Amino acid sequence: MNLTPKEIVAYLDKYVIGQNAAKKTIALALRTRYRRMQLDETMQNEIMPKNILMIGSTGVGKTEISRRLAKMMSVPFIKVEASKYTEVGFVGRDVESMIRDLVVNSISIVKAEKEEENKSKIDNYVLNRIVEKLLPPLPESASESKKDDYQRLLEAMEKRVESGEMDDKTIELDLAKLNIEFDDSGLPPEIAKVQESFSKVFASINKEDNKKEVTVKDAKSLLRQEAAQKLLDSASVNAEALRRAENGGIIFLDEIDKIALSEKSAGRNDPSKEGVQRDLLPIVEGSSVSTKYGTINTDHILFIAAGAFHVSKPSDLIPELQGRFPLRVELESLTEETLYKILTQTENSLLKQYEALLSVENLTLIFEDDAVRAIARLAHRANENTEDIGARRLHTVLENILEEISYDADEYSGKEFRITQELVQDKLQEVVEDDDLSRYIL
Ligand SMILES: Nc1ncnc2c1ncn2[C@@H]1O[C@H](COP(=O)(O)OP(=O)(O)OP(=O)(O)O)[C@@H](O)[C@H]1O
Ligand SMILES: [Mg+2]
Repeated sequence: MNLTPKEIVAYLDKYVIGQNAAKKTIALALRTRYRRMQLDETMQNEIMPKNILMIGSTGVGKTEISRRLAKMMSVPFIKVEASKYTEVGFVGRDVESMIRDLVVNSISIVKAEKEEENKSKIDNYVLNRIVEKLLPPLPESASESKKDDYQRLLEAMEKRVESGEMDDKTIELDLAKLNIEFDDSGLPPEIAKVQESFSKVFASINKEDNKKEVTVKDAKSLLRQEAAQKLLDSASVNAEALRRAENGGIIFLDEIDKIALSEKSAGRNDPSKEGVQRDLLPIVEGSSVSTKYGTINTDHILFIAAGAFHVSKPSDLIPELQGRFPLRVELESLTEETLYKILTQTENSLLKQYEALLSVENLTLIFEDDAVRAIARLAHRANENTEDIGARRLHTVLENILEEISYDADEYSGKEFRITQELVQDKLQEVVEDDDLSRYIL
């Protein structure tokens, strides 16, 4: 992960319009971690990450930024909702489980890398296992000429398996050796270990039943797992994964405002909210968390928290927690121009999505530029007049405009349909002008 801050911002620009302050802060935080890793160990230990708090009203791109980062990053990264956790002692997931989730994520990254490194070994293993099922072995006593023939057959069979020609054939596989992986990251490591030993015991009892008829196609992926388990040294994978999570791990803590105690709703506050905040303190500050794969120190894990803070304010978080998120960035609410750009310039824009969906019905949807401007203007006005729900307003607005044509798409098969400014006005002007109406419809 050695993208420069500018490169990270450029990547995010493809999907998120504006919000430059947030993008820059995050890009810089990521680069700082990379810089830190290049230093000698004593220096490394001194440099603590500066956690980030992103504040911005709903629908302005907080979660979108993190989703895109997650896709791009090759460092351990998870996104969790703060509201999902409960105080230790209450029923539910405790906050330490997020660290365990991070380790699991790290392991899958390291595993994928190691599998890539050992690709040809794994490919060979898989191929041999399948071919030996398809082609019964030759008896030892076979003559030399038979052996030559057999060799030729073998090579031909290997080609056919590789090309996928044999994918539909079934073979019998003995899958007893595969460990069943449990989703146990929510469990404390002691219990997870017990669960694991149980699963091993059961696996050994069930041995005979594990012969399964599978297609060659399925066998390829099943045997891949087996090969990875046999050929990769899981102890070193785990150690490497722990090390990476410890030094490069990032946790995106979404909806942090949901665990703040606001004065406004004082009576209804859930007492466990403050408990979750208290439980978060040591993890964010740096402490040791034991996982099934070993103990991990959280000192250098970067936390990026985000919240709309509509009802509560950052100052409603307990002071100790506020202090642990020294970098604050605010996301701007979206202007008409931003909404227009979101529609036209993002890689995954809603307009492209609708065009693609309707192209399945052989209908060519064309948005005229005037129309797109009108959509942005009306969406912006609806945000101003009623609730500001950011870019999510575009979804409801577009849905309203396109519902009919979407329904009647079959009648337009092979034709094109133009979304004009008049059509947009027709469908929406009245609704947007009328506050009461737009509260319901948009
Ligand atoms: N600045 C932006 N650029 C491009 N798309 C955006 C932008 N802001 C929001 N969107 C789009 O709007 C939708 C909602 O955005 P997102 O999930 O990031 O909201 P949020 O800020 O996390 O809101 P909440 O506080 O409600 O969780 C997403 O589909 C996203 O793609
Ligand atoms: Mg969000």
